[in-house]
Amino acid sequence: MRVVDVSSVDAAGAVDWDGLRAAAREAVDKAYAPYSGFPVGAAAFADDGRLLVGANVENAAYGVTLCAECSLVSALVMSGGGRFTAFTCVNALGETIMPCGRCRQILWEHGGPELLVDTPQGVVPMTEVLPQAFGPGDLDHVREASR
Ligand code: THU
Repeated sequence: MRVVDVSSVDAAGAVDWDGLRAAAREAVDKAYAPYSGFPVGAAAFADDGRLLVGANVENAAYGVTLCAECSLVSALVMSGGGRFTAFTCVNALGETIMPCGRCRQILWEHGGPELLVDTPQGVVPMTEVLPQAFGPGDLDHVREASR
């Protein structure tokens, strides 16, 4: 298996979106999607430049299917943690797709408002993908107020 070798930013400091998309397209081949026939590959850069990938893992009990973003976030945590800085996910045709609603929440937790998300309409910050998100700050706010 070929592993895409990318560095997260080019000499000018711009995100290597082509490299990230290539990694997501490779990850599609790892998907386990016998029920939907809809493999998904996801890829992200972490704030230290690490490249993480994930693919969906389905289950005979359909509802417990893991989206590609689930294995992606596990890869982030298990390889040392940190924050996502740039994210993309693709279908079997290699086309960019939007993360589902649940996965937007997962991305918010580990990337926050500044995470850059590749969409069919271009790269946008996470605030456009999940406006008025619920996040860790909401928990802190009540915790602090109850002290
Ligand atoms: N899927 C993902 O992996 N990520 C998304 O953000 C959208 C949906 C998967 C779940 C399921 O295995 C298949 O796509 C069809 O819904």
